[in-house]
Amino acid sequence: MSETVYFNGAYVPYEQAVVSVEDRGMLFADGIYEVVRAYGGRFFHIEGHLERLVTSAAEIRLPLPSLDELRAAMAGVFERSGLRDASVYVQVTRGHPGPRAHALPVRATPTCFAVARPVPAPDPMHVAHGAAAVTIPDRRWHMCHVKSVGLLLNSLAKQAALDAGAQEALFVRDGVLTEGSATNAFSVTNGTLRTHPDGPHILPGITRQVVLELAERLGISVRQQAVPLADLYAADEVFVSGTNSEVLPIVSVDGRAVGAGHPGPVTRRLAEAFRDATRA
Ligand code: PDD
Repeated sequence: MSETVYFNGAYVPYEQAVVSVEDRGMLFADGIYEVVRAYGGRFFHIEGHLERLVTSAAEIRLPLPSLDELRAAMAGVFERSGLRDASVYVQVTRGHPGPRAHALPVRATPTCFAVARPVPAPDPMHVAHGAAAVTIPDRRWHMCHVKSVGLLLNSLAKQAALDAGAQEALFVRDGVLTEGSATNAFSVTNGTLRTHPDGPHILPGITRQVVLELAERLGISVRQQAVPLADLYAADEVFVSGTNSEVLPIVSVDGRAVGAGHPGPVTRRLAEAFRDATRA
């Protein structure tokens, strides 16, 4: 069965969803996206994702289709996929207003598509026993709060992690942990959970927000405070969070064991609470 893609107002077979070679998404990475999980037939925090899409669009002066249209498109591809658990991708670029030109076009018709896919979930071994991470200098731009399709440095970081036999790359900027290549990052020291504060150097992850709320509810002390690399190495626990990764324990960083080298109690409590939230 060919996948159905929502493409600029219509549902079409995958092969028919093609864009111009001069789409600004292709020429300038002039576009934004969201990835939303569905569990058991229902979207998880779709409104948070749509709000973030609106913020991303405003930051890059991109006219968005209406939120009703985007919501309907995401629901449309999800329903047509026949999946109960899915990862729904939606992307909007500034379209192809004419020959390549740096300045923003006066009038642009966005290119918008959405597709629902089976979930690229992490290996159950890594979920149960923890994954490995390596640190990478964070050379990305200073607008990481925008969910831009300009992901080359994230992509290179992820590949560097895989090349090193690890599963995730953790970005370090000015000596502190910012986030993962496709995740937010947390450490636990003496029972206190720490994660980089919101701002231009991290994506305000939806999963991160859920984790922070769960931590509060569980009485775990939380600080939105940058973690220096030395503290990361000395942390009792480390984990990452993301729409596809959920809550994933990290048991080694740059080849050094984190804590006792297996998922710690705070991570396990949060991972379990997160799983419960996805079933609620
Ligand atoms: N990435 N930080 C970065 C750089 C990310 O790309 C992502 C998600 C996150 C986690 O955000 P959230 O919890 O809202 O998924 C943090 C998506 C899943 C991706 O690019 O596929």
